[in-house]
Parts: sequence; C-alpha cells; structure tokens
Amino acid sequence: MSKLLWQKQGVAVDADIQAFLAADDVILDREFIAYDIRASRAHAEGLQRIGILTQEELDGIARELDALADDLARGVFVLDERWEDMHSAIEDRLTERLGDAGKKIHTGRSRNDQVLVATRLWLKDQLDEVTSSCTAVARIALTRAGVERDVPMPGYTHLQRAVVSSAGMWWAGWAEAFIDNAQRARVTRDWLDANPLGTAAGYGVNLPLDREHTTTALGFARMQVSPPYAQLSRGKFELAALETLGSAMLDLRRIAWDLSLFTSAEFGFVALPAQYTTGSSIMPNKRNPDVIELMRAAYASVAAAKVEIEQLMSLPSGYHRDLQFGKGGLVHGFLRGLGALRLLPALLAALEWKQERMRSAIEPSMYATDLAVDLARQGLPFRDAYCEAAKPERWAEGDPATSLAARVSPGGTGDDHLHVLEARLAQITAN
Ligand code: ARG
Repeated sequence: MSKLLWQKQGVAVDADIQAFLAADDVILDREFIAYDIRASRAHAEGLQRIGILTQEELDGIARELDALADDLARGVFVLDERWEDMHSAIEDRLTERLGDAGKKIHTGRSRNDQVLVATRLWLKDQLDEVTSSCTAVARIALTRAGVERDVPMPGYTHLQRAVVSSAGMWWAGWAEAFIDNAQRARVTRDWLDANPLGTAAGYGVNLPLDREHTTTALGFARMQVSPPYAQLSRGKFELAALETLGSAMLDLRRIAWDLSLFTSAEFGFVALPAQYTTGSSIMPNKRNPDVIELMRAAYASVAAAKVEIEQLMSLPSGYHRDLQFGKGGLVHGFLRGLGALRLLPALLAALEWKQERMRSAIEPSMYATDLAVDLARQGLPFRDAYCEAAKPERWAEGDPATSLAARVSPGGTGDDHLHVLEARLAQITAN
C-alpha cells in the first residue's frame, strides 16, 4: 500500500491491522471513484474562489482529474490495494503529477465529507435508474392493460379460483404499482438531493468555503447545512434509497411469483420467450424459468443490505468507521435490484398469454359473486342473496365478457380508469 494519508513519524503500521481496516473498501470504491473525482474538482474550484489555490493550480488539478477519470474509464488506471481507499488514490495521483498543488487539494475537507458526497451523487444516479426502470415497466403494463382489457383470466384469492378477471386487470395492477414505485424513487431522490461537501469531518472548518458553488457545480438542489447532520445522514440516506428500491422489488418479486406459477404446466397461462429460460444439465426435456427466479431472489439482497446498514447505525453522533461496512451491502443491493428491474420491461413486453388455457380455467362457480350482487341489486338483502348464490345448482356456464363489462365501479373492468394512470405516468415522465 502506498503511504497512508494520515501516516505520522514514529507510528508503525501493522500490515494485518491495515488490511483489516481497509477490508474491501478500495474495491468497493471503484463504484464511487468517478463521483469522488467530480466532487474533488468542485472542491478545488471552491478553493480557488477563496484564494487557497491559484488559477494555475486549479487548472492543473482540473486537467489531472479529467485525465484520471479518462484513465479509469479506459481501464488504464485501476483502483486496487495499492491505496487505502479512493480518496487516497486521487490525492496521491494529483501530488505525483502536480506536486504542491496536489498536496493542497485536501484543504478544508475530510474523507468524512468526501465519502458522503461521492455516495450521495451515486445514490442520486441509482435512484434515477430506479425511476426510469419503473416508468418503463409502468408504460408497458399500462399499454397492455388497454390492449388486453377483454382477455379473460381467472382471478384468484388464496390461490383458489375466485372470480372472473382479465389480463388487462392484471396489467393495470402492475401499472399502478410501478407508477407509485417510480414516484417514490423520484421523491426519495429529491429528498436526499443535498450537498454534504464542505462539512469536513462533521464540524465545519475555519475557512469561508464556497459551499454555494460546490452545491451548484455538482448539481445538488440544496446544501446540507449542518455538519453534524451531514454525518448523521450517512446510512440514513442509504437506507431510504434501499427502502425505495425495495418497494419496487417487492412488486417485482410478486410478478416473478405470478409468472413462475403461470408458466408451469399446471397453470399453463404464459409462454416465455426462449431466451428467458434455461435448460437442465441432466433432464433433456426441461425449460426452466431461471430469469424469473433470480428476479424474485434479488429482493433478498436488497433486504439484506437494509438490515446490515440499519445494524451498523447503532452509533452515537459523529463519524465512526463502522459506517464503512455499509458500502458493500449498498453496492450489492443496488447491483442486484437494478439488475433485475432493468430486465423487467423487455420481459413483460415479450410475454404471451395462452388465452385458451386461461379461458378454460374459468369455471361456473366463478360467477357466483356476480349472481349474489345481481340478486342484491334486485332488492334481496345481500346476505340472503349470498346464500342463494352459494347453491351449486345456481351455477351455470357464464360469459366472461358480460361479467367483465358489468364491473363498472371505477377501476373495474367496465370502467378501468386507465386515463387516470396515464396522466400520473405522464407527469412523472415529464419531470
Ligand atoms: N473509507 C472510509 C469510510 O467509508 C472513508 C472515511 C474515512 N474517514 C476516517 N475518519 N477514517 O467511511
């Protein structure tokens, strides 16, 4: 490992202890270093504005930061165990290339606000991706809800055949769910859109740092004002982002469950395009819906990350190194969660209903609720109508189209209010 930023004369560095402290931090920092570079640039600009750096020094730093970002993108520079973390690697590179100007970059900042700002920028981008994946899912679900409004499908409760439903109704459910999920991701992104850079170790510094400038330069909506709160927000904001991702993943998990049932021979409602299935190494006859299953499993990584970060946050105020261990779960949770979410729109666009199978799973008993309500509408007290409609001799082969058309309260198949969902979705995509 290159010389530690904080190394002092006369203090021996033990390799095992150092390895424990660094853990996998430098590897995880690969996810964040581009943001740390951006924030370093804004910080340097701020230092120039208050006379700590000359214009020439700033130009050199800006040039070297750009070159580093470029080297990283091209794989010429690799962040690895040579450094304790990304912060050290950036300072090291600037000092190596620029001498004193590089040694000045850390004036008025701490790795505590550095890691916060890099993570914050990363979280904003991740949440934007959650929003766009969720709107893409909602878009497809909403379109198919309209197109397949009249495609009959059994409606289940307790996984038992219950009432007549339609593919359109199934789609509309996911459309509204993913509109909510997209909106929540947008709201969470806006909620955490605050710049912690300039709060240093958590207590400010004796310099008039141009925090307004770094806030604007980094595209934040506002400044996170209180230095102690900036530290308190570490973990808290990660948790909010994971919860937001988690709400989309909860719905994704249930779609995956539906599809794993519907693609089974027992249901036989859905045909998945071949690329979403895999074969078995021993059973030549198999096509398995592994993609759906891993989408379902991705929730576990998001949930685990939430638990890990929540556990780490049992701390007094101020910075504590414990928080470093929150990075792994965060990165893993978003990697898994977004990995699954990103695949969902195309999967939903491609799935095909086996309409005959769905139609033949609708049996006479599934019109019993319609009958009970019809009798009640004709004046029979509902409980008596219910008893009447419970008699198997009253059950007859019905017409799904009539049943669906009669579901006229708002949201039902006879008045599905898709225009309301359209308007909400349009509002999210317009902003
Ligand atoms: N890797 C550290 C973290 O994630 C960076 C901040 C280190 N700060 C410190 N005071 N040791 O928290």
